[in-house]
Amino acid sequence: MAPQKNMKARKILLASLLLLACISAVYATYQQKKVWAVPEDVKKLKNPLQPTPSNLTAATQIFNDDCAECHGDHGKGDGPEAMMHDPPPADLTDLQHMKTVTDGAIYYQITEGRKPMPSFRNRLTEDQRWQLVLLVRTFSQPAVVPESKHVPAPSSNPEVPKKPAQSPKN
Ligand code: HEC
Repeated sequence: MAPQKNMKARKILLASLLLLACISAVYATYQQKKVWAVPEDVKKLKNPLQPTPSNLTAATQIFNDDCAECHGDHGKGDGPEAMMHDPPPADLTDLQHMKTVTDGAIYYQITEGRKPMPSFRNRLTEDQRWQLVLLVRTFSQPAVVPESKHVPAPSSNPEVPKKPAQSPKN
């Protein structure tokens, strides 16, 4: 092949790669900004299950099998596969954030999934998904264990003074 032609082909290749990179960067930003919209009536759903030891044990089992690879054993979002995903798996231990999410919303997110998180509608029963909601709650609020008498009332005041905690830049 003539070297000139070769150069031209390379330039075209380079240009297309650049274009592709731009498109995916824009797309990624767009995806991240996209709120995970949950239908209002689903948001209000109440968990039919209680955080009994047996429900939590069952949930832990499922979590280890189906969720920990991304979300990490304790929901921190540091599972072995976490690095491979964009957006990264949500940190389920982040109380500030989890306080703003209803049980119904968590149930919905587990049911529907959102790329890269798979949908568990067909993989888990409704009860199993509600059990997971109970478990997810314990990641940010370990005090919700039934035995403990002292369950701090879910703060009715969302304006807990918060310093802009050093957000992990990645
Ligand atoms: C393939 C990796 C992967 C697996 C497996 C996975 N997740 Fe996720 N999960 C994610 C990612 C990535 C997000 C963030 C998605 C987004 O914001 O668009 C997420 C978000 C969530 C959220 C929303 C948190 C918030 O921001 O409000 C919940 C709840 C959740 N996952 C629970 C689970 C549970 C429970 C399981 C197991 C049944 C599970 N996930 C399995 C990757 C995964």
